[in-house]
Amino acid sequence: MDTKLFTLDQLDQAATLLKKGELIAFPTETVYGLGADATNEEAVKKVFWAKGRPSDNPLIIHVASKNELEKYVENFSRQALKLVNAFWPGPLTLILQVKEAIFAPSVTPGLKTVAVRMPDSQAALDLITRTGVPLAGPSANTSGMPSPTAAEHVYHDLQGKIAGILDGGETGVGIESTVLDMTDPENPVILRPGAVTKEAIEEVIGDVMIVSSSPKNGESPKSPGLKYKHYSPNEPVVIVDGNRKIWENAIHYYQKQGEKVGLLASDECLSHFREKAEDVFSLGNKANVSLALKRLYAGLRYFEHTDVTLILAEAYENNGLGTAYMNRLEKSAGNVHF
Ligand code: TXA
Ligand code: MG
Repeated sequence: MDTKLFTLDQLDQAATLLKKGELIAFPTETVYGLGADATNEEAVKKVFWAKGRPSDNPLIIHVASKNELEKYVENFSRQALKLVNAFWPGPLTLILQVKEAIFAPSVTPGLKTVAVRMPDSQAALDLITRTGVPLAGPSANTSGMPSPTAAEHVYHDLQGKIAGILDGGETGVGIESTVLDMTDPENPVILRPGAVTKEAIEEVIGDVMIVSSSPKNGESPKSPGLKYKHYSPNEPVVIVDGNRKIWENAIHYYQKQGEKVGLLASDECLSHFREKAEDVFSLGNKANVSLALKRLYAGLRYFEHTDVTLILAEAYENNGLGTAYMNRLEKSAGNVHF
């Protein structure tokens, strides 16, 4: 199959293909999504095939308006409504009780719940509206790879497997939405941290829990996606958390083992060690955590096109937006710290 690249003024052509049950990757404010008509089982099945995604990992539904939500979910709580009003459109996905017989069965395999969000991207909203159905949209990467933050990343992973890519340029946030389980409104749980932080959610609905990123042995994770390896580039990633001396030791240690070391780090760090590394990718100024989030996945993917054999990546403080940054970085590193 030929994968076509559509510009935003060719959005109607992309919508027509979606209506026919084809897959179209589309930009959102977080990462690119792999769109399929969420009411069409054949289309949804293709999503799992194209990504190589395990069939028990449910998909997020993307809607174009807040009002639509009531058509798809049961027992919509006052707290959930508060969150929708505070954060939609935006990078907050809510897990709610699903109404029966609306979505294709593979969207919510064996579950009584569904993940829904309204993206803060005009291109995404227009595409959903023109297609006229809610779109299933997991991140548009091969399963296990970092999510795509540019159309080129999607093309790299999925060319030949999907009908097209709607190119909306680089995405803004750079990592996937916060996933919040609201099925029990009294006990909201963050299943995946994101740009809508725990602190911001608590300002609207009070205390929320956050699940630890890796469930213990024998424990079944609340979000099926949590049990799979994620966000990993081809080169191993090691997290470095520390001062100049520790960085020096880390670089020296791996180079002695014959590794060609790449640095994924802040400008402050690179100003000391740029010359020592095989190649580098800047996360920006250390004080700017949202810029580090925006660049993290592009950085992880960058080294594939270099001679680098091992990536040393800089830790950020584990609070506020840094929680989401460290969550994705720890997954891509398989939790390996120097
Ligand atoms: O920002 C995003 O959320 C992006 C853009 C494209 O919207 N989408 C995205 O989708 O990251 P995906 O499929 O890569 O991640 C969805 C996550 C998975 O970890 C999945 O297991 C979880 O949400 N999830 C989906 N439905 C669920 C449900 N009913 N209950 C619990 N977890 C669910
Ligand atoms: Mg994903």
